[in-house]
Amino acid sequence: MYEVLDKNILNEITKRLVVQAPEIARVCKPGQFVMIRINETGERFPLTVADFDRKKGTITITFQEVGKSTRLLGSLSVGDKILDFTGPLGKPSPTDKVYGTVVAVGGGCGSAIVYPVARAFKEAGNKLIVINGARTMDLLLYREELEKISDEFYETTDDGTCGTHGFVTTVLGDLIKEGRKIDLVFAVGPVPMMKFVAKTTEEAKIHTLVSLNSIMVDGTGMCGACRVSVGGEMKFACVDGPEFDGHKVDFNELMARLNAYVDEEAVSNEKWAHEHGGAE
Ligand code: FES
Repeated sequence: MYEVLDKNILNEITKRLVVQAPEIARVCKPGQFVMIRINETGERFPLTVADFDRKKGTITITFQEVGKSTRLLGSLSVGDKILDFTGPLGKPSPTDKVYGTVVAVGGGCGSAIVYPVARAFKEAGNKLIVINGARTMDLLLYREELEKISDEFYETTDDGTCGTHGFVTTVLGDLIKEGRKIDLVFAVGPVPMMKFVAKTTEEAKIHTLVSLNSIMVDGTGMCGACRVSVGGEMKFACVDGPEFDGHKVDFNELMARLNAYVDEEAVSNEKWAHEHGGAE
């Protein structure tokens, strides 16, 4: 059993839990994920590690309550226990290399996942530019943490309530237009955001990695939910990724598939809300 040591409510839909898991914290690398099963009747689902502390033996997970399991996870309190917490899984991000200038782009909850990866890029000796975006100011995550590790830090909101009025690609596009030397772009966020980040960097031929953690379901290579065409080859995000060359990912096919289970998810969500009185 894995105890919840700390809990923060980051905004109305996003929570952060610090979980005691020393064996995972000891070997975890940025970009990897854990598999979670909250209780006997719960489903297994993957969440990318938002931070780890080897000394304290803790793993931090940050997640949006988008479905039944994440809502149940968000309802846990400090002192509660999680039945299964397995990992680390997935290939680590290639953060031990010096590329030159790395632009880390986080959108919505993706900013939590960007954080340990961006920090590792910085620690490896890269110049780090961070672009942190969300729909509105209240949904911007990891603002202080990201700003602290960045050489340059930008924020964008779709509604203009904070930072640049626009999208992460607005700032990224401007940096490219200014002729800034960028050696690598690393993006995590909603699939449409990653699609447009890859589009923005394609013409300038800037190597771009996207993390497809959000499309994983069982995280074991067996359910097939995370299938994605990369450079014409079929890959599994949970086994071959979760990071891929953004210029090779077939985003249109991916987005069409992601919409396939919207109805089933809504039914499960509604049932959970009904059983729990419509609230946590
Ligand atoms: S998440 Fe099920 S096969 Fe990858």
